[in-house]
Amino acid sequence: MSSLLADKKAVVPTHVAIIMDGNGRWASERGLPRLAGHRAGADAVARCIKAAIQRGVSYLTLYAFSSENWSRGPKEVSDLTGLLRYYLRHKVKELHAEGVQLRFIGDLGRFDTSLREELERAEALTRNNKRLVLLLALSYGGRGDIMQAVRRVAQEVRDGWLTPDQISEELFTNHLWTAGVPDPDVVVRTSGEYRLSNFLLWQSAYAELVFLDTFWPDFNEGHFATVLELYARRERRFGARPTATV
Ligand code: IPE
Ligand code: IPE
Ligand code: MG
Repeated sequence: MSSLLADKKAVVPTHVAIIMDGNGRWASERGLPRLAGHRAGADAVARCIKAAIQRGVSYLTLYAFSSENWSRGPKEVSDLTGLLRYYLRHKVKELHAEGVQLRFIGDLGRFDTSLREELERAEALTRNNKRLVLLLALSYGGRGDIMQAVRRVAQEVRDGWLTPDQISEELFTNHLWTAGVPDPDVVVRTSGEYRLSNFLLWQSAYAELVFLDTFWPDFNEGHFATVLELYARRERRFGARPTATV
């Protein structure tokens, strides 16, 4: 009995990462402005966090705003940053009470100072929480992440802290914005698109991929359960022989 429970626990992914896509199409199907889709998407975020906690996932990364999303124009960008600000002001206390540790990854320097301060406050408040580490990818791009890590490693070599042969995969991983976070076990994308759109490029090397047809605002606990079921049925090999033919 106890070993069965242990087996069941072993197939719960440690780190789930989600590309939350389809807010705009959800809204346009209803004749609503895109902002309504983003608002409904924020409610789906709350459902997703709750499901992750209930299911015992340790790390949840949500792709909320890509480095390329800055090209959407000032109105949509300000709608999205406004929503983020609202979410921080109204939800951080609740997340803190739930034991969620918040971490923001991305080129945060592109946001204005007051928003950056709010992000820092939320991180500081929740720093010691252990129940779920929630990473929000904001102004995030996988290539940008790799580039900033390359620059920092290069500076350390230039300053004599490192020699080039000391640059290992582990050292490089520790210079990414996700330093200290295990690689995602599963990367999910909603809305029926089959691409990564510059998300966690280095970190997803061996992630299982799950694509759902659902638009993000419709995402609920049932979809989260589906992701975990699909993940549990996958055989991860990491380049080794299939277990059945050993
Ligand atoms: C995802 O929904 C949210 C962000 C990228 C900020 P979209 O806004 O991309 O919605 P679609 O893909 O146009 O439907
Ligand atoms: C990816 O979605 C980024 C986020 C979900 C935040 P996009 O809607 O921006 O991606 P593309 O443009 O369809 O590839
Ligand atoms: Mg999209």
